[in-house]
Parts: sequence; structure tokens; C-alpha cells
Amino acid sequence: MTAQPAPVAVVTGGGSGTGLACASALSARGTSCVLVGRRQERLQAAATTLDAPATVMAADLTEPGTPDRIIEETLAAHRRIDVIVHSAGVFDKAPASEVTADHWQRVLDINLNVVMALTRAGWEALSDSGGQIVLISSIAAVQPFAGNAAYAASKGGLNALGEVLRLEGRDCGIRVITLSPAQIDTELWDGKAPESVRARMMPAAGVGELVADLVGTDRRIDIDPIIIRPVHDPWVEPEP
Ligand SMILES: NC(=O)c1ccc[n+]([C@@H]2O[C@H](COP(=O)([O-])OP(=O)(O)OC[C@H]3O[C@@H](n4cnc5c(N)ncnc54)[C@H](OP(=O)(O)O)[C@@H]3O)[C@@H](O)[C@H]2O)c1
Repeated sequence: MTAQPAPVAVVTGGGSGTGLACASALSARGTSCVLVGRRQERLQAAATTLDAPATVMAADLTEPGTPDRIIEETLAAHRRIDVIVHSAGVFDKAPASEVTADHWQRVLDINLNVVMALTRAGWEALSDSGGQIVLISSIAAVQPFAGNAAYAASKGGLNALGEVLRLEGRDCGIRVITLSPAQIDTELWDGKAPESVRARMMPAAGVGELVADLVGTDRRIDIDPIIIRPVHDPWVEPEP
């Protein structure tokens, strides 16, 4: 009897925060992760913390051709892809009246366009493996707030894309999970929130565990978009 090959996950933004937490939890369950991000050292340092063998691909996903190359190189190395976790993203804030064309393009590119490009490139491999796609969206997709026009538009688009992929994936054996989290304590908040507020945000490790648990659920279960948030608003000082 031949041993089953280990499942393989491509995790964008896998060098830090939510992406790394997802990779850690998937890896603890025996998944080989391919960590993608721009910072080679961060990716390598992250890979050494994982339980299962991991590889890194340092690349700017917004560069034309990069999503295709990530999939090609992953298939060349592993011959299969079971999960793509789309966690790479930026949280650049500006009121709509001050959003430059460059700002808009940068946010939409990494938060939305790259997700489409990588999904398209990986669709056949995921269909072959009966694989899964995890979209790390945001609460801003469903509850936008003033001052984050490009971010909210990108995540709103991501939720809409996720719903289309979920419906289309059903016919090809691909499950699509869209997670819309509120505040997670990651470096995305560096310089944007004080320590006291960050301490009340959701821990990235907990979000990673949730993602790995969802990926591990019985495949006869279809999963609607999920909103998660800290128990209390981290920006509101608790009563003494
Ligand atoms: N933290 C929150 O409160 C929160 C809430 C809701 C949703 N989210 C979403 O969670 C996701 C992950 O964010 P995070 O909170 O974990 O923050 P993070 O640690 O800053 O993660 C963002 C990741 O995206 C990667 N990335 C950014 N631009 C890239 C590019 N052009 N090419 C390749 N990789 C790129 C970064 O790696 P490099 O810099 O090395 O490229 C980094 O690893 C984002 O999509 C974010 O919108 C976060």
C-alpha cells in the first residue's frame, strides 16, 4: 500500500500575521505549506517555525505573471495543491476624496486582483485534488467605515468574488471559505493602534486555528461567509 502524499497549501502573506497563523495551524495538522510574500528573510524565519516541511517563494504577487509562476513552481515541486489561503493584503487608509489613482490601484491589486489571478491559475489543480480556497477578507466588506474607501471596496469585491467561486466550485469539487474578520493583532496595526487596543484584538493564532479547523471539516458541509470579531470592541476602553 502506498502512503498518501501530504496535503499541500499555498499561503499568501505566509510570512507574517494571519497568513503565518494559518500556515502554523495547517502545518500542525500535517500540511506542507508554500509560504509566499515579498520578504525572503521573513518567509524563511516563518518556515522554520512550522511543524511540517515548508518551502518559501519570495515574490511580489502584483507583478504580472507571478501568480501563474507560484502555481507552476508549486506543482513542479509537489505535484498537487490542496489548499490556497489568500491572506496577502494591505490596509492603506485614506478618505475617498484623497484616494489617488496609485493608492486605489495598489490596494485593489493585492487585495482583489491577485486573488483572482492566483485562483484562476490554481483552479485546475484544486479541482484535481478536491481542494479548498480560503479568502481572508475583512469585516470592512460587510460593515465599511469612513476613511477606507479602497480597502472596503477591495474586500467587498473579495466577498462577492468568494460567493461566485463558492457556487462555481461546487461543480468541480472545490470548497471556498470566505472569512471576514474584524481586528486581529498583527503588524498590519503597527503605527495605527496603541498597545492597549491591540491587546484587546483577536490573536492571530486563534484565527489560524479556526481556518485549519474549517478546512478540516467534513467535505459534505458547505460553508457560508463567516464574520468573526473580538468579544468587545477593542477601541472601547472597558469599564473599570
Ligand atoms: N489584522 C486585522 O485586523 C485584519 C482584519 C481583517 C482582515 N485582515 C486581512 O488579513 C490579511 C493579512 O493581514 P495581517 O493582518 O496578517 O497583516 P500582515 O502581517 O501585514 O500580513 C499581510 C501580508 O501580506 C503580504 N503582502 C503584502 N503585499 C504583498 C505583495 N504585493 N506580494 C506578496 N505578499 C504581499 C505581506 O508580506 P510582505 O510584506 O513580505 O510582502 C504580509 O505577510 C490581509 O488581507 C488583511 O486585509 C486583517
